[in-house]
Amino acid sequence: MGELVRLSVEHGVGVITVQNPPVNALSPGVPEGILQGLEQFVSDHAVGAIVLIGGGRTFIAGADIKEFGKITSGQKRRGPGLTTVIQGLETSQKPTVAAIHGHAFGGGLETAQGCHYRVALRSAQVGQPEVKLGIIPGAHGTQRLPRLAGVKKALEMCAFGNPVSAAEACESGIIDRVVDGVGYDDLLAGAVAFATEMVAKGGPHPKASEQDQKLGTPEEAAPLCEAARALVRKKRRGHMAPLKAIDAVAAAVSLPFPEGVKREAEIFRECLFSTQSKALIHAFFAERQVRKVPDIPKGFPARDVRSAAVLGAGTMGGGIAMSYANAGIPVRLKEVTQEALDRGVAIIRKNYERSLKRGRFTREYVEQRVALITPQTGWDGFDEADIIVEAVFENMALKKEVFHQIDGIARPGAVLATNTSTLNIDEIASVTSRPEDVIGHHFFSPANVMRLLEIVRGAKTSKEVVATSMALARSLKKVGVLVGNCHGFVGNRMFHPYRREAQFLAEEGAEPSRVDRVLYEFGAAMGPMAVGDLAGLDVGMRVRKEAPHLYPPGTRRPLAEDALCEMGRYGQKTGAGWYRYGPDRTRHEDPAVDELLKRIAAEHGIEQRQISDDEILDRVVYALVNEGARILEEGYALRSCDIDIIYLYGYGFPAHRGGPMFYADTVGLDKVLERVEEFRGQHGHWWRPAPLLKQLAAQRSTFKDWDQSR
Ligand code: 3HC
Ligand code: NAI
Repeated sequence: MGELVRLSVEHGVGVITVQNPPVNALSPGVPEGILQGLEQFVSDHAVGAIVLIGGGRTFIAGADIKEFGKITSGQKRRGPGLTTVIQGLETSQKPTVAAIHGHAFGGGLETAQGCHYRVALRSAQVGQPEVKLGIIPGAHGTQRLPRLAGVKKALEMCAFGNPVSAAEACESGIIDRVVDGVGYDDLLAGAVAFATEMVAKGGPHPKASEQDQKLGTPEEAAPLCEAARALVRKKRRGHMAPLKAIDAVAAAVSLPFPEGVKREAEIFRECLFSTQSKALIHAFFAERQVRKVPDIPKGFPARDVRSAAVLGAGTMGGGIAMSYANAGIPVRLKEVTQEALDRGVAIIRKNYERSLKRGRFTREYVEQRVALITPQTGWDGFDEADIIVEAVFENMALKKEVFHQIDGIARPGAVLATNTSTLNIDEIASVTSRPEDVIGHHFFSPANVMRLLEIVRGAKTSKEVVATSMALARSLKKVGVLVGNCHGFVGNRMFHPYRREAQFLAEEGAEPSRVDRVLYEFGAAMGPMAVGDLAGLDVGMRVRKEAPHLYPPGTRRPLAEDALCEMGRYGQKTGAGWYRYGPDRTRHEDPAVDELLKRIAAEHGIEQRQISDDEILDRVVYALVNEGARILEEGYALRSCDIDIIYLYGYGFPAHRGGPMFYADTVGLDKVLERVEEFRGQHGHWWRPAPLLKQLAAQRSTFKDWDQSR
């Protein structure tokens, strides 16, 4: 049974401990080990009951996700399979007890459901997060969970995948007892005591598969399933697995258990082989991969960040201060004038009050967080801060002035971060006496909500400061992605061609609302025109003015947004942009925009024509992909999966597509290249294919393979 499962006997109770760090996933060897342990204890007369527990920090976090790729690529699975183990635990003559700490997720919770009883530490969480990987519970979770917790709870857990606390699980019948204590030893003692009580009580011991009392009738389940489907369509637009999970739970009510598990298995397979599942599994591993920086090994010394100071209490500074406060880090927030400071603090207050109203935070939590933010107009305490984050206007001269001041004040060893979205980090660092401490922390708006943090490494940034920033991102509950110092870094550099093509399409005759609709139907949170209106069309206009190198002479440049700005249409903030906005920000199409586009086309000899939805999608998404490929070969992103994570967490790219680079892989890079060449033939300069795209397409390879080859 190897090292993966350990057996011991405690006070007449057989203990099976899974030891597959870090999360005790059910990798090959683990199910076999549990089954052998079970058989051994069942035939051991000195053992009255069996406890299944996880060694280390957790129970079992589920099936080994890495194995799914092997199944879909046709490699044979060895061993008895998880459902055989679960069946064994349920049909055991001796009572079986799952002892849960940390997480019982996915196949972990399904294994626990096979046990006659479940006990858990108060800090434990249970859940069926499979839908987040594009699959459904595949080891009878959709069939046993509604029997333990009722259909409504099972629908919630299986269709949305969110974890449930031990207390809540106990209330809903998933857990039989919450054990007091803090760690493995307390849990084991509690579980052994519980098992001994069950031996004394005597059998028969409950089998979840036979408990039909909570299921109700198909007629009762139907409206619950319909409500869950409606919520899925709203909250997980375009995702297939949540709807399939609902079908599987519905089958638990309409079919006897043995038929229900067959139905579950069919649906599980269908989901596992879907492109959506591959995309979501890619995103799962990508999110963890981005934490790894090749030249900075795990455990590289990082500095402690226990206090922070932010300069500028505008849109970004306020949100950044909230992110620190939410992580329990005291933060000073400095503005130039009392008026600007008051305005910034009022917005912070308003944001917290909104979260309070929505029930996201309690009053006590809000007051604690607000108390961690010290608003000020002076430099008090900046000399003690572990990190200073600059979030003043986007202007190089101002940034340099501010960094010169910070350099004179910050304590040695403080991290000096800039939230610039486009400016050169090295130029900013050059005015300080310590460029090794300077780094970009590019938050996304609203900074207290958006999870992406682009961490921009300058030429002289020290490894320690990079390591500190990567660790800090996690403390702030952000997904930190390390990028290089180029114009727009990774996210905005790619966003530029994406929005450029959207504008070109509009000028060529695609209605702006249709461009948005095509992207929305693809799964994007918002289309490119609506995003432009939200961010402010003047932002793009300023970039085009201030970075003329982006549009070399003789190249076509987008004209419509500059023209809209000239009309005072900056987007939502002026009540009109690509759309006209009602008082409650409702969006209306505007014939004036159509006229403007026709006029621009006529004046500049742009042919207006019928444009298909396919062309709209390919033009904007492949513009992202082509620029992403260039960024990769220039080394400004470490891997293609880093780009995917930036787009998933910073730009609302649909999760079930896996990110732009993974999406291109699923289409096939040869097909993507073919289309890029076609656009080049029609539109010239902007569509020169990235050499890396050409190379990978010629090799019939993928961006994912390229990542793995490095
Ligand atoms: N399979 C394989 N590897 C896994 C894994 C799993 N189920 N869960 C986590 N890992 C790996 C991670 O990739 C990471 O590897 P790395 O260190 O090489 O990057 C390592 O374990 C640690 O993971 P985290 O960094 O995520 O650790 P945290 O402590 O932050 O979080 C966790 C722990 C909450 C358990 C989180 O890892 C998690 O949510 N895991 C996935 C759980 C899940 O989705 N389970 C369902 C699997 S599908 C299933 O069970 C199908 C069944 O119905 C048949
Ligand atoms: P903003 O205009 O809302 O806020 C800037 C604030 O800085 C103003 O309140 C101003 O009074 C203050 N300020 C100016 N000089 C100062 C000084 N010397 N000391 C202290 N405060 C000073 O601007 P916003 O949008 O917050 O942008 C700030 C930075 O964040 C810019 O570099 C911008 O490029 C970047 N950024 C902006 C994003 C956005 O969506 N708005 C997204 C990501 C980055």
